[in-house]
Amino acid sequence: MSEVIVLAYSGGLDTSVCIPLLRERYGFEKVITVLTDVGQPKEDIERGNERAEKLSDGHYVIDAKEEFVRDYIFPAIKANGSYEGYVLGTAIARPLIAIKTVEIAEELGADALGHGCTGRGNDQLRFETIFRATDLRVVAPMRDLDLSREWEIDYARDHGIDVPVTRERPWSIDENLWSRSIEGGDLEDPYSEPPEEIYAWTKSPERRIPPEKVEIEFSKGVPIALNGERIGGVELIRRLNRLAGEHGVGRTDMIEDRVLGLKARENYEHPAATVLLAAHQDLERLVLSRAQLRFKATVDDAWSELAYMGLVNDPLYADLSAFVDKSQERMNGSVKMKLSCGRAYPVGRTSPDAIYDQDMVSFDSQTLSQRDSEGFCKYHGFQARFLNKKR
Ligand code: ARG
Repeated sequence: MSEVIVLAYSGGLDTSVCIPLLRERYGFEKVITVLTDVGQPKEDIERGNERAEKLSDGHYVIDAKEEFVRDYIFPAIKANGSYEGYVLGTAIARPLIAIKTVEIAEELGADALGHGCTGRGNDQLRFETIFRATDLRVVAPMRDLDLSREWEIDYARDHGIDVPVTRERPWSIDENLWSRSIEGGDLEDPYSEPPEEIYAWTKSPERRIPPEKVEIEFSKGVPIALNGERIGGVELIRRLNRLAGEHGVGRTDMIEDRVLGLKARENYEHPAATVLLAAHQDLERLVLSRAQLRFKATVDDAWSELAYMGLVNDPLYADLSAFVDKSQERMNGSVKMKLSCGRAYPVGRTSPDAIYDQDMVSFDSQTLSQRDSEGFCKYHGFQARFLNKKR
């Protein structure tokens, strides 16, 4: 029988309930918790730490924010990461959280790895594809014991766990720097309109405030400066979340096809992601060739699907990432974005590497002779004309 289990711990209801369950139902002697900081709110981390101190037999907090930005968010920007319109926040954080949990387990010589995912979602797949690369036992109490949320709330109370989830606020929320995912309660009815209170990062887009402009500078496809000020990725994303959130930018209410095939109603907030992805895509249109743009769209799709599925260890993920990185070598420049009433849209862009010359396309241009394109016109559509004449 195993003795020590290392649990990927968020501080929320599910993973908190897992701690006593792993002792009572699975007979583990020690439950060690690992909380990986991928930019969730400070209060969540502090509350998680307090709960873990009370409940677990050893607790680790790992600051992985810089790594999350460098190895997961920046690649997602370069690949215009989007799955069915979802910017992939939860999805791209899971592999990193799993890796950090495994590292602690290996350090401690633990016997098993645990997570608090249910058997209905994608997160179990993302955790376990990393966990199962080890020889350790994998335990998923939420999936195993098929617990209802009501049961969990009562069980938590009986075990002295103060839960933020109530029957009135029944949402399951997952937050990191890139996005905030909200599920559960009435939201499970796809016809029910999301109440304003589910949102924490965005003000209502219906609020009337003056529009605002923000300029983003990119270097090799990743953002390096905001309004002319060079700042690190973590801070840049945080600031942009606040700035764009004021304008109600970055809300998504969608029906999503989970990996298992289940359709789910999902709500997300992601102000910075919306602005950065729109700006990045706009700059690509100025810098990449037509052929690159067409082909890269299919690569972006394939990359996004693997990222969504948590298959970041698939060799194809590395292949596609190499293509994406190569395509971003000239992706330098700035995009001016306007934020207004829930929308973020480009209003200007510039790049030293643009495939654009004002002098060539201008109405007043003398650089190219207009007459040269006459020959081109003679061949354009030639086959169709040939056939039509023959008929
Ligand atoms: N549907 C999203 C995904 O698969 C979010 C899952 C977690 N959501 C949550 N509210 N706990 O990435």
